Amino acid sequence: MTDGAVVVVGGTRAIGLEIVRHYAGAGRDVVLSGQSPDNVAAAAAEIGGSVRGITFDLSAPQTIEAALADVGPVDRLVLAAIDRDQNAVATYDIERAIRLVTLKLVGYTTVVAKLRSRLATDASVVLFGGMAKERPYPGSTTVTTVNGGIVGLTRTLVEELRPIRVNSIHPGVVGDSPYWSEKPAAIEKYASQSPIGRLVTMAEIVGATVFLLENTGVNGVDLILDGGWHCR
Ligand SMILES: NC(=O)c1ccc[n+]([C@@H]2O[C@H](COP(=O)([O-])OP(=O)(O)OC[C@H]3O[C@@H](n4cnc5c(N)ncnc54)[C@H](OP(=O)(O)O)[C@@H]3O)[C@@H](O)[C@H]2O)c1
Repeated sequence: MTDGAVVVVGGTRAIGLEIVRHYAGAGRDVVLSGQSPDNVAAAAAEIGGSVRGITFDLSAPQTIEAALADVGPVDRLVLAAIDRDQNAVATYDIERAIRLVTLKLVGYTTVVAKLRSRLATDASVVLFGGMAKERPYPGSTTVTTVNGGIVGLTRTLVEELRPIRVNSIHPGVVGDSPYWSEKPAAIEKYASQSPIGRLVTMAEIVGATVFLLENTGVNGVDLILDGGWHCR
C-alpha cells in the first residue's frame, strides 16, 4: 500500500464519521466530505489529527471535479453519502427523486471518475447501498431503486478500474444510526423480525467496511450486513 489518503464521501456523521474515526485512529491521512460546510468543519474538528474536510454536493456532479482538485493520492475510497427522500408512487416527488438518483448514482460515479488517476493500483473502493434494495419500507421508493443501482455500479467498476478492487455493502436497518435511533417504534418492530433479535450496529458496519477495503482477495462482493434478516 502506498501512503495515499483515505477518502470518505459522506463522512460528517453517523456511519461515515465512524469510518473516518477508525482510519484516523490508525494514523491514516483522512479526507472527509459532506454537503454542508458547517458539518464538514465540525466533523474534521471533532476527529482532529490528520483529518481534513472538503465540501461538495453530489447531486450537482458538475461541481465535483473542482472540489476534489487538491486531494492527492488515494488508497481507500468510501462512498457513504445519502440524502433520503420520502417517496411513493402514489405521491411521487419528482424533484426529490432526481436529487437522490443523481447523488447516489451519477454523483458516486463522478467521484470515482475524477479520482481515478489518483487511485493507487492496490487501492480499494466501497460503495454504500442498503437492504432497502430487497426489503422496501414506507417511503423508500427512490432509496430502494438507487440501492439496487449500486449493485450494477459495483459490477461495472470492477471491470473499469481493474486491478483496483471495488465492493459494496448493504446494511439492514442500523439501529444506533441517527436516522433510525430517532424512530423507536420502527426499531422495536424491525428488531423483533431480525434473527439475531436486534438490529446491526454502526460498529459492525464499520468492521465490515474495513474488511472489504483491506482484504486483498475480496472484489465484486455485495456484502449484506443485516443480522440474517434477509433469510426470512
Ligand atoms: N443508517 C442506516 O440504517 C442505513 C441502512 C442501510 C443503508 N445505509 C446506507 O449507509 C450510508 C450511510 O448512512 P447514514 O445513515 O450513516 O447517513 P447519514 O447520517 O444520513 O449521513 C449522510 C452523509 O451524506 C452527506 N450528504 C448528504 N447529502 C449530500 C449531498 N447532496 N452531497 C454530498 N454529501 C451529502 C451528509 O453530509 P452533510 O452532513 O454535510 O449533510 C452526511 O455526511 C448511506 O449510503 C445509507 O444509504 C444506512
